[in-house]
Amino acid sequence: MTATTLATVTVTGAGGQIGYALLFRIASGQLLGPNIRVRLNLLEIPAGLAGAEGAALELQDAAFPLLDAVTVTDSAATAFDGANVALLVGSRPRGPGMERADLLAANGAIFGPQGAALNAGAASDIRVVVVGNPANTNALIAAAHAPDIPRERFTALTRLDHNRAVGLLAAKLGVPAGDIDGVTIWGNHSATQYPDLSYATAAGREVRELVDDEWVREEFIPRVANRGAEIIEVRGSSSVGSAASATIDHMYDWVNGNRGRWTSVALPSDGSYGVPEGLISSFPATSVDGAWRIVPGLDIDAFARQRIDASVRELATEREQVQALGLI
Ligand code: NAD
Ligand code: LMR
Repeated sequence: MTATTLATVTVTGAGGQIGYALLFRIASGQLLGPNIRVRLNLLEIPAGLAGAEGAALELQDAAFPLLDAVTVTDSAATAFDGANVALLVGSRPRGPGMERADLLAANGAIFGPQGAALNAGAASDIRVVVVGNPANTNALIAAAHAPDIPRERFTALTRLDHNRAVGLLAAKLGVPAGDIDGVTIWGNHSATQYPDLSYATAAGREVRELVDDEWVREEFIPRVANRGAEIIEVRGSSSVGSAASATIDHMYDWVNGNRGRWTSVALPSDGSYGVPEGLISSFPATSVDGAWRIVPGLDIDAFARQRIDASVRELATEREQVQALGLI
């Protein structure tokens, strides 16, 4: 966010659960940092406008020094006009027993028009993260409708999976989460994802020496990959606070850099690690000079290869499905 002191942040689905958890953190400066004033544009469908308007009243009541203005609208053109940051949350969450693929048709249709509105009105430094599921493929759809915006500005959220992996590993090892580095989520934000500890360290020690393969394969990987379903089962609805927190982490790191720490980001593949170019797939990444860089040169063993390929196959199938639906 080059020398900008005022940024326009658009949140879609702002009247929903994650929207509500996000707005106060954005307005307090946790999304972009303490030196950037924020203008918030809240996009909703008509049925969700009351929720967004109520949140706007509460934002005023919180008197955040960094909050410049709040606009609530059901017009994508108004919401994305001049946007520097877009958090695309608005879409239907899955309920108990549903898979993310069930959301493809229902939610995919939202992201074409929003991509077009971003293309028409967003600022030249726009950064987009898609949270609404199926997040990777929704980001693919949005990017396909925004030919004038560089592809790499469209990302999808796998930071929640990354944080889940870090949290679970930290608990297993009895260390603070901040001691963990080098964790990767590969592939789709779905149960096929590959949470990879091959390069993970805990306070500088190789995690492979601290946990056994059986725990990694039988407990860690399935627990992380199915954590979304576990949360739905326990709470009765999908994750909210952790999803909002991961969205803040993702965008904060993207804008401010992350000092070489390793995180996970779903971004358009440049062909790295055998992931077909253009698919929006999760990679290990660092944030340098305002851009995500895929961590290069990692050895991928046979187990990892098979897991990454399976998740990437699912992404390719989702792309075929949305092509067949005429969404891209
Ligand atoms: P929610 O139902 O509480 O809120 C969604 C909001 O989106 C609603 O207020 C709805 O009116 C609004 N909306 C629907 N269509 C819209 C459109 N075209 N434009 C603008 N707003 C629109 O749901 P939630 O719990 O906030 O979850 C939102 C999405 O985030 C879901 O798809 C959920 O599955 C997903 N999610 C993703 C992750 C992730 O890690 N990627 C994590 C948790 C949840
Ligand atoms: C999550 O991972 O918690 C979300 O994507 C919600 C879901 O449907 O799993």
